[in-house]
Amino acid sequence: MFITFEGSDGSGKSTQARLLAHSLRRAGHDVVETREPGGSPRAEAIRALLLSGKAARLGALAETVLFNAARADHLRVTIRPSLARGAIVICDRFADSTRAYQGVLGKMDDDLLVAAEAAVVGDTAPDLTIILDLPAELTLERLGARRETVGEAADKFEEEALAHHDALRQAFLDIAALAPARCVVVSAQAPVEEVAKRIFALVMDRVSPEAGRSAPRPAKNTDGRPKRQR
Ligand code: TYD
Repeated sequence: MFITFEGSDGSGKSTQARLLAHSLRRAGHDVVETREPGGSPRAEAIRALLLSGKAARLGALAETVLFNAARADHLRVTIRPSLARGAIVICDRFADSTRAYQGVLGKMDDDLLVAAEAAVVGDTAPDLTIILDLPAELTLERLGARRETVGEAADKFEEEALAHHDALRQAFLDIAALAPARCVVVSAQAPVEEVAKRIFALVMDRVSPEAGRSAPRPAKNTDGRPKRQR
């Protein structure tokens, strides 16, 4: 099973990815935790370039190419072999981040993003994508709180920042609406433990639906005909 976490900065997705991995291991599953950009030595080298800000000077197209190059190596070296041996792979950000960041914020052409994703991801699409959703105001508040704790100055471009986070949020919500079988939007406003419980429950429903609550198999009558579900 391939699970990805998506959402804005400050939504707590890295924390939730870690908590989910911990709970799944306690339930006896083999779990591989990984992240993007990165997740393999070469992809981590590309991550360093991307996050240094140097790649931004090359423009949105070059950044898109770099995110995809990192993803191709990550899939080849880490994700596909882990899935092949039966592990549950949990990835902090994946292809939806390219759609949201490079597509909506970077204004990259959708056809190009779709073609690149098809070439790079192929049939290794996530089975489940958890989109942690937070209103832009709360995102800013959380990021502001983070800054305070490391003593950084307040952001004077608050309005721009709000528009930025709102566009990102909407981009992830649109992605979820287009792929409702794969994506589950989870509000990130509740306390961390509550969000973690909710995510664990919905993952367990998919890992072992026969033991879960939300995906009942059609019950059979003694004569073998399916019982009518109430
Ligand atoms: P990171 O420090 O991991 O941020 P976060 O904690 O928010 O995940 O940095 C990843 C950054 O890279 C983040 O700002 C989102 C961006 N990104 C893209 O622009 N495109 C992508 O395809 C991916 C995977 C990430």
